[in-house]
Amino acid sequence: MNGEHMIRVGIAGCGYWGPNLVRNCVVNEHIELKRVCDLNPQRLGFIKQQYPFMETTTRFEDLLGGDIDAVIIATPVQTHTALSRQALNAGKHVMVEKPFTTSVKEAEGLKALASRKKLVLMVDHVFLYTPAVQKIKEIVKRKQLGEIIYFDATRTNLGLFQRDANVLWDLASHDLSIMKFLLNKMPRHVSATGLSYFKNGLESIVYMTAFFDSHSIAHFHWSWLSPVKVRTILLGGDKKMVLYDDNEPSEKVKIYDKGVGATPSTSKQHDLFISYRSGDVVSPKLDNTEGLKQVCEDFAQSIMKHQTPLSGAEFSLDIIRILEAAQQSLKKGGAKVKVG
Ligand SMILES: NC(=O)c1ccc[n+]([C@@H]2O[C@H](COP(=O)([O-])OP(=O)(O)OC[C@H]3O[C@@H](n4cnc5c(N)ncnc54)[C@H](O)[C@@H]3O)[C@@H](O)[C@H]2O)c1
Repeated sequence: MNGEHMIRVGIAGCGYWGPNLVRNCVVNEHIELKRVCDLNPQRLGFIKQQYPFMETTTRFEDLLGGDIDAVIIATPVQTHTALSRQALNAGKHVMVEKPFTTSVKEAEGLKALASRKKLVLMVDHVFLYTPAVQKIKEIVKRKQLGEIIYFDATRTNLGLFQRDANVLWDLASHDLSIMKFLLNKMPRHVSATGLSYFKNGLESIVYMTAFFDSHSIAHFHWSWLSPVKVRTILLGGDKKMVLYDDNEPSEKVKIYDKGVGATPSTSKQHDLFISYRSGDVVSPKLDNTEGLKQVCEDFAQSIMKHQTPLSGAEFSLDIIRILEAAQQSLKKGGAKVKVG
């Protein structure tokens, strides 16, 4: 593709995550990274060390001129809505980091604005784009697991404590986006309990249960107080079950041909005979494409082809709906709160 057709991009925020976006945009054949912005000149110096010819600026407005088509926002969550709104109003397509916004109202506002302006608005729900999650989606779609009964996620670490967000708003977007993508449905209610280790009102441990209309349940454990890093998801179907362990270097996904069956006992009316099935364990081969590479590609393709990205505004708004309901439940000591 020649230069004329490339999407001209500006990136705001070069702290911890932004440089990964810079790296992926620089090598993407459909993206021309025009300029990088951060309020902190030291972070711009860090980018300059790696890309000496990169244009840098401390003014977000410098990403809104006529030489840029799209803006990527990797700044702290409290700034997402204002910066996205500014970019959309300037006619720029926007990709913003997770979590999309700090409230449903803000996310709805941005979605409506993007739709009015006919601009692409997406959120970097990077896990959806990883070979592991894509493979599990394929398995679910082919009904290899049968009916999904449960989704069980654990994402724990020692830190990193955030100053402006609790563990729910920091980590949950990942697992909630994976759940929504794989199950293709929204919970009706959630119940969340947690604890603030520093007693500063920001929970460092959260347990959340999600309840669906159908015969299925989801449970989540997020923590900054774990001595070990755990990144697992169990997906249980009535035919097979999947274990996704993101810490595994190669065999991240394992499909267990295990399950249980029940037949009524003939002797006692209410008794059941439980039978256990234990078959093979298969670990499908996965390529090692970086999820973020696919995120940037989806952003560029969605702009070029006027299509909705995998993690577009509607999808991402649903994640905020769950987060907001979970936050309300935390405040109410774990009461069941309606989602949406
Ligand atoms: N998708 C993922 O897997 C993933 C991973 C880590 C972080 N994130 C998300 O990325 C975002 C940034 O997180 P981080 O850990 O990189 O934070 P960070 O604090 O390390 O970096 C944020 C940077 O944004 C800059 N900044 C703040 N306001 C700005 C503004 N108005 N204009 C320009 N620059 C501004 C800061 O100076 C800082 O350098 C958060 O939303 C976070 O949740 C996503």
